[in-house]
Amino acid sequence: MTFSRRQFLGSGLLAGGAIAFAGVLPANAREWDDYSAHFVRDLDSSLPNIPLRPDDEAGWKAVAKNYSVTSKITNLENAYWGIMARPVLDEYKRLTEFVNLENTHFARLKYSETYTGIRETVATFLNVGADEIALTRGATEALQALISGYNKLKPGDTVLYADLDYGEMKTAMRWLRERRGAKPVKVTFPEPTADEPLTEAKILAFYEKALSDNPGTKLLLLTHLNNLTGMIIPVARIAKMAKARGAAVILDAAHSVGQVHFDLKELGCDFVGVNLHKWVGAPIGCGVMYINKARVDDIDTYMLKSPGSNAVTDRIDTGTLNFAAHMAIPAAIGFHKKIGTAAKQGRLRYLRDLWVEPARKLKGLTILTPDDSKMVGALTSFRLDGVVTTKANDALMKHLLDKFGILTVRRTGPDAGDCIRVTPSIYSSRNDVEKLVRALKTITESGHSW
Ligand SMILES: Cc1ncc(COP(=O)(O)O)c(C=O)c1O
Repeated sequence: MTFSRRQFLGSGLLAGGAIAFAGVLPANAREWDDYSAHFVRDLDSSLPNIPLRPDDEAGWKAVAKNYSVTSKITNLENAYWGIMARPVLDEYKRLTEFVNLENTHFARLKYSETYTGIRETVATFLNVGADEIALTRGATEALQALISGYNKLKPGDTVLYADLDYGEMKTAMRWLRERRGAKPVKVTFPEPTADEPLTEAKILAFYEKALSDNPGTKLLLLTHLNNLTGMIIPVARIAKMAKARGAAVILDAAHSVGQVHFDLKELGCDFVGVNLHKWVGAPIGCGVMYINKARVDDIDTYMLKSPGSNAVTDRIDTGTLNFAAHMAIPAAIGFHKKIGTAAKQGRLRYLRDLWVEPARKLKGLTILTPDDSKMVGALTSFRLDGVVTTKANDALMKHLLDKFGILTVRRTGPDAGDCIRVTPSIYSSRNDVEKLVRALKTITESGHSW
């Protein structure tokens, strides 16, 4: 039997305003996939011929019509979380009504079966086993559980992280001193110069040196696509290098899923945190914790919950969930797959290059993110010469917003100083990024007086 979304969510108003739902839920991963396929089929009329070329402005405009975006500003800060496509948002609202109506009758009697189906859909999407993941509210929750739960550390073991890792994860790595008696060590990424771009070879040499300078390293935190400069690092090769030296690797993949090619198995990391509410377009509150099946005992059960259990789901406790958000994940994955990761990545890269190429030529401005297509997605950061403080970058961000109507974001974290991050999304247009180029030209030509 195939399972259409109408069967699931078919609803009607009863007398007195009460809503009646069909009340049937997909019972397993196959039915969730059927549901997701029906969802995508219903979309077909609203989407252009797919896959789209990166420069097909009319085609991407048709895609953009599926997103409600504020016209108050030009939004080039799309890395916090991703706006849901309108059909996903509508589905999420219907699911919210469903959950609200069915209340604990659904949550207590049905949700665990529902969860199992969604988990399988997500696992297939990430190319891992369903028993290797747990759904979370986001990457932070997943990664904090992994970092705090890793139980192979002995007092004095080195735990290594870098300046470009995410703030909360850097804090968690430092906290391992109190939690496990570990020795946290931070390493500082090299920055590019006008003559010397960052290359994968440089990043590999950087980690090679970091590991040989710190031979006691037993745990390494890596960030696949970091939130400060947007650089993508060669995770699989670094993880192999670290493992050969006896260090476990925890991977922060908050940004890469849905933005660039992503296959969890290929990355070769045993412990990974993922977000689905950034680039897959699921509702806010959707993430994943992954633990390689063979390594599950290396992570403590959460606060001694179910001692002896070997279930990944016992390594985290999310309390009462936003059920509807998690139930909207298959729809978000369906919409994402309909556009296609490769087409999305191509478009994001095209929009990014449209502003980066001319901006690189501006005097007094450095682009901090490499151009190598393996090392960049949508996110790219720049710094104006000498503008390194949080205060000055806040002022620059405000100037871009107040004077030019362009939203960007100041990022603090690189040891060399703060910077401004620019992130188009798939509903951004050529005009949006060209507007930024004109603004940056005015700013650099005005001698940075803002
Ligand atoms: C690299 C990175 N890791 C982790 C996170 C945390 O994600 P969340 O707040 O959705 O849990 C973010 C959020 O922006 C991030 O950019």
